[in-house]
Amino acid sequence: MNTQRYSRHLATLMERFERALSQTGFDQVVISAGSLVIVAEDDRAYPYTPRAYAQQWLPYDVLPDTFIIFKPGEKPRLLWPARQDFWHISPTEPSGDWTGMWHLQPAESLDDWLPALTGRTAWIGPEHPALEQHAKSVELNPTALKSILAYDRAYKTEFEVDCLAEANVCAVRGHRAARDAFLGGQSEAGVYRDYLAASGQLESTEPYSGIIALNESAATLHYERRSFETPSQHRTLLIDAGAKVNGYASDITRTHTTDTGRFADLLAGVDALQQDINAAIKPGVKMTDLHRKTQAGVAQLLLDHKICSLGVEEQLSKKIPQAFYPHGLGHLLGLHVHDVAGHQQSPEGEVRSDPDNPFLRLTRTLEEGMVITIEPGLYFIPMLLKKLIEAEPLHGLDVDLIEQLKPYGGIRIEDNVLVTATGHRNLTREAFDV
Ligand code: GLY
Ligand code: MN
Ligand code: MN
Repeated sequence: MNTQRYSRHLATLMERFERALSQTGFDQVVISAGSLVIVAEDDRAYPYTPRAYAQQWLPYDVLPDTFIIFKPGEKPRLLWPARQDFWHISPTEPSGDWTGMWHLQPAESLDDWLPALTGRTAWIGPEHPALEQHAKSVELNPTALKSILAYDRAYKTEFEVDCLAEANVCAVRGHRAARDAFLGGQSEAGVYRDYLAASGQLESTEPYSGIIALNESAATLHYERRSFETPSQHRTLLIDAGAKVNGYASDITRTHTTDTGRFADLLAGVDALQQDINAAIKPGVKMTDLHRKTQAGVAQLLLDHKICSLGVEEQLSKKIPQAFYPHGLGHLLGLHVHDVAGHQQSPEGEVRSDPDNPFLRLTRTLEEGMVITIEPGLYFIPMLLKKLIEAEPLHGLDVDLIEQLKPYGGIRIEDNVLVTATGHRNLTREAFDV
């Protein structure tokens, strides 16, 4: 880790929180990382992910029952869980250069510090049973404060960009292994196993459940099965899978095919369209405009590849590209895969979605420091095509050709892109290029 970058990151967070607390009239904030939750009163817990507002402050994977207290003008306080419990791993005091920037305090329980809090206190994170006794001075997840903090999360610090870039490097190792496993004839479960091993992850530590879809299953956008069955033919692999570094996620999709004809050409076409859209990224550009440009690009591909005989404008007016590309172009990326505040137009919380494209998760104008995904797709989704053909008799579609392409499922290419002062930096292609 680059300690200087972390130090500047911490200074930025302290500034942001100080401003937000003063605007909302709080003296301090307690941030909870969350706790383990037991499954069905039995012998294991649900996979744990630290709450983003806690993870954001710390350069390691934050443990359950960690709390942060920030009071403007003071060093932030890290209450680390100093449990004495011979059944489980006992947490040790966090270490590293960065700890000098903090006041570290071991805490076995909230009773060690909660009663001593004075002043008007905001609490960010899940409710805690101990809070009830102290509820008079603590406000749980105040909306005004959280909306200011959420809005700011879109602007990544250099430290955060480093984490996101590293998360791309880890995921790309997995993507390479997955492609090899596909070409080697593995099942979805086999491809997934190789992905996890090569990217250094367990299923429980992925930023989201990796999508590993062979053949027609690539037409299911969030295909969740990972079959152990080996298909007789390996036509397509669509893999949408990421990794995490200090809580920051990568979210990468690649599509591979063994085809050398029409589907391979279409795949090359979607890849070229994706790079075209990437090239347009710079501050001031509207994501809604890029999304429309992508829909027009999909229409052009349908025309070029003789899937639809109608011109681009006519296709758009009949919503034909939307049947092949029904999701949004991308979203903010950070501690959450679909990072917060993509529709939020101001720190005060005004939200705006795109009524024509309800699945587009990002309607903010692009600004320096944002990290976004760019993920166009083109799929043969039987239920959407059937609906389109029934609703629009003059569809211009070559239904025989579509039947030939359905067994390939679909295509998605997804990169993670940083908006820079003058353009962009593609964290994913940079990782693949190494
Ligand atoms: N991995 C989910 C998405 O691409 O948004
Ligand atoms: Mn994805
Ligand atoms: Mn995505």
